[in-house]
Amino acid sequence: MNNFKKSKYYITTPIYYVNDIPHIGHSYTTIAADTLARYRRFLGDEVFFLTGTDEHGQKIQKTSKERGISPKQLADKVVENFKGLWKRLDITNNFFVRTTDDYHIKCVQEAFQKLYDKGDIYKDEYEGWYCIPCESYYSELDIGKDRLCPACGRKVDKVKEESYFFKLSAYQDKLLKFYEENPDFVMPKTRYNEITSFVKSGLKDLSITRTSFDWGVPVPFDDKHVIYVWFDALLNYISAIGYAENKEEFSSTWPADVHFVGKDILRFHAVYWPAFLMALDVELPKHVVAHGWWTVDGKKMSKSLGNVVDPNEMIEKYPRDAYRYFLLRNVPFGLDGDFSEKELIERINAELVNDLGNLVNRSLTMVEKYSDGMVKKPETRTDDSMSAKAKETFDKVKKDIEIFRFDEALSNIFEFIRFSNKYITQKEPWGLKKANETDELQNVLYNLINAIKFIAGIISPFMPDTADKIWGQLGFDKPIREYHYEFFLDFNGFTSLKINKQDVIFTRIDNIKSENKDEKVKEKADKISIDEFFKIDLRAAKILDAKSIEKSKKLIKLTIDIGEDNPRTLVAGLKEHYSPDALIGKTIIVVANLKPAKLMGIESNGMLLAAKDGNGLGLLTTNEDVKPGAKVG
Ligand code: ME8
Ligand code: MG
Repeated sequence: MNNFKKSKYYITTPIYYVNDIPHIGHSYTTIAADTLARYRRFLGDEVFFLTGTDEHGQKIQKTSKERGISPKQLADKVVENFKGLWKRLDITNNFFVRTTDDYHIKCVQEAFQKLYDKGDIYKDEYEGWYCIPCESYYSELDIGKDRLCPACGRKVDKVKEESYFFKLSAYQDKLLKFYEENPDFVMPKTRYNEITSFVKSGLKDLSITRTSFDWGVPVPFDDKHVIYVWFDALLNYISAIGYAENKEEFSSTWPADVHFVGKDILRFHAVYWPAFLMALDVELPKHVVAHGWWTVDGKKMSKSLGNVVDPNEMIEKYPRDAYRYFLLRNVPFGLDGDFSEKELIERINAELVNDLGNLVNRSLTMVEKYSDGMVKKPETRTDDSMSAKAKETFDKVKKDIEIFRFDEALSNIFEFIRFSNKYITQKEPWGLKKANETDELQNVLYNLINAIKFIAGIISPFMPDTADKIWGQLGFDKPIREYHYEFFLDFNGFTSLKINKQDVIFTRIDNIKSENKDEKVKEKADKISIDEFFKIDLRAAKILDAKSIEKSKKLIKLTIDIGEDNPRTLVAGLKEHYSPDALIGKTIIVVANLKPAKLMGIESNGMLLAAKDGNGLGLLTTNEDVKPGAKVG
């Protein structure tokens, strides 16, 4: 080999079978890998991110026969579904490997030959059982009395044919030693334990060729045999970076830093693959990370149940960032998870609209209103609590991602977002404006915009579109991806910015269909005269501040600007529907001439209007440029 050194961070997904359309499960692994790839680039690393398709084997041959086309025709068709989806999801893979590509076939044959020459492959006869959907061999013991696949529960086929075997048994001790020396080779820990105890229980040699069908890579010296699809498929991780061609790319990329896999295929990656590599005298990957299994509304996804979720459909209905966010946030990486649109919508409304969207919107609105859209670095900085919190958040996220806990990383980022919202409530910039405390106001706005700049950076691996949208409003010269983490952590990193406020970055989703449409009762009200209506003084009012009333389950205390000399206090039963932070900045409609009332000891002057149905409550609002005090009618 040449003397190039590994310089790239190398991430892979499984290569998916081309007998199936991509669903949320496939998109999950690929999105996790993409997030890590983007995160490592954010840290400044050069990344090589690989995905692709697994196109050989009995399963593909069988499916293509059922459809009356050749296996290659099937592969050429289905591969476009994967490539198209990855494009629509803006997946940043550097290469797409297909196991029917020439360089790959060459690599598989060379590896096979090398191991044969070395004596690690020998010819014998295989007698046992085979599960086609899982492309796995099983012994009599594995399948039990009912002769069902222990992995998928389907009927297995009896196989008795001449076969080449890989001397897997010879690698048992070497593998155990390797696991012991590399306790984070398989992650998470529970999976590591599973693998080590499997290997300890004893490894048998592995049949790695078949003769009863022909859709596969031929054994170079015995073309009656095609190579077992898993021997073929696993080699993609080195074929794609030029192992067989001795490419520079290979030495600068291998070993892989992370192979992401679902728990279904962990054994192939954590036992067979390192054994093949040891036999080939190639260095072993650093981590094999197995995630859990997605169900849908509590049920296993299956074609027969008709509940397979198509990611294409999801990203047509919801922002693709929201889809990414939900998958990564909702389940601790490693555990099984359940997909439900209801929960997806809840997270969009609570976290993306209320927490994140609102922070950006309020802050930029204040910069526009209080500072002519300009943020300037103050001469003296009065408060570095935000910068300290950002640093702390960055460190937490770093640790979370080191152990592939994307869910925790996001949870920590959103803690920072809520912290920033609280900062506004505590600092009351509107008060500073009113009191003419210019220096302090400048400090607060500068801190806030720096907080948003940090948020844009740290969420960019998870929600790249959102990061771009925020960035576009902040007004920096270069696109966000040209900056690395240091810049986002620097709370003194720019002297002045002209912001460019746009539409909100996420909009509330209220289309959870009401189950009982027909039950809608039409209320019959007695008719009133226009004069009676005009007795009610309806006004637009801007919410300046909102605080939860601690002792109350429902009430929030609002400070509103209704166009009078002084702000008014209004108490409203909103707690179950809105977080106080989410209310600030909204322009609402208020009955201004209502007699004062005392609620929990606080005098409320007026009543806000809201519409209520079985699903929740929605405030009546108007757009923000309606002046406080404007008459409604
Ligand atoms: O196994 N939940 O390909 P495959 C979570 N070609 N992840 C899921 C999932 C679910 N319900 N369903 C699928 C193969 N996945 C081989 C791989 S690699 C050298 C060869 C994801 O098309 C998960 O990553 O059956 C799982 O491991 C993979 O898709 C299986 O994809
Ligand atoms: Mg599968």
